[in-house]
Amino acid sequence: MEQQQLMSNKQVILREYVSGRFPTEADMYVNTSSYISLKVPPQGSTVLVKNLYLSCDPMMRFLIMDNSHHRMTKYVYCTPGSPIYVGMARVAKVLDSSHPEFKQGDLVWGLTRWEEYSFITNPESLIKIRHTDTDVPLSYYTGILGMPGKTAYADSLKYALRRKGNTCSCPQHPEQLGSLWANLQNWLVVMLLEVLEGFDEAFNYKEEHDLDAALKRYFPQGIDVYFEHVGGEMLDAVRVNMREHGPIAVCGMISQYNLPDPQGIKNLMQCI
Ligand SMILES: NC(=O)c1ccc[n+]([C@@H]2O[C@H](COP(=O)([O-])OP(=O)(O)OC[C@H]3O[C@@H](n4cnc5c(N)ncnc54)[C@H](OP(=O)(O)O)[C@@H]3O)[C@@H](O)[C@H]2O)c1
Repeated sequence: MEQQQLMSNKQVILREYVSGRFPTEADMYVNTSSYISLKVPPQGSTVLVKNLYLSCDPMMRFLIMDNSHHRMTKYVYCTPGSPIYVGMARVAKVLDSSHPEFKQGDLVWGLTRWEEYSFITNPESLIKIRHTDTDVPLSYYTGILGMPGKTAYADSLKYALRRKGNTCSCPQHPEQLGSLWANLQNWLVVMLLEVLEGFDEAFNYKEEHDLDAALKRYFPQGIDVYFEHVGGEMLDAVRVNMREHGPIAVCGMISQYNLPDPQGIKNLMQCI
């Protein structure tokens, strides 16, 4: 019988679900006593990858909650005692594969666990990276060329680009989605933290005590399109400043992820 080569597989394990508060380092631990075979089983359709880059994204936050009462079937949730899922922001190299679409040496991005090596039993979830331009760092596939970039691009195309002349509000830090999305626009975009190339204006949500007044200042004619990733008080303030028939693309609600109870929605009259 062929001897199986086993490799140490360092993992970050979730201790317990984290709900209603900010996660802390104590909610996870590093497991150094796990080993993995570097060969996929011959039967089935499995891919073994070495994880090269992982990005800690807001998506991880709701994967580590106890979601037993409100599971959305499109997500794969973490289980206490198992390695944490790291959303879609991962770049990995295929080491072995019994799936016809993937071969040794392929680069991929997609959902993975926080560990050095992962067996992927649903390889159809992987996206192959055709990395021909070596000037582009591979790590960009955890950001602008990966899931955050695709999200911003899709939202822009669907909700904003086809509505030329819009004024758009995008309430995020310019690091990931916010900056990508805003840079895909040519119009007035209000960002909450910094003015960067591509944005006409910005304000810091932490320094504005009256969000409604701030939005009125920057959008005297009202907001045409709102790309939502904050929720809570920001959504309430935006809703009273939307122009008639202005679409709101709901992408995330980062202000809500660590609350014991989600904030209620005000100003629903504006939807009539
Ligand atoms: N639906 C999808 O497929 C999808 C995909 C990707 C992302 N998302 C969502 O999009 C949002 C942004 O993701 P990302 O990857 O761009 O995250 P990111 O790069 O980690 O940026 C998150 C930023 O949110 C800011 N923030 C936190 N609380 C806030 C609040 N109450 N009001 C305003 N800003 C706040 C933080 O800035 P400070 O630390 O300075 O507060 C942080 O810089 C999240 O809601 C995420 O869940 C959805």
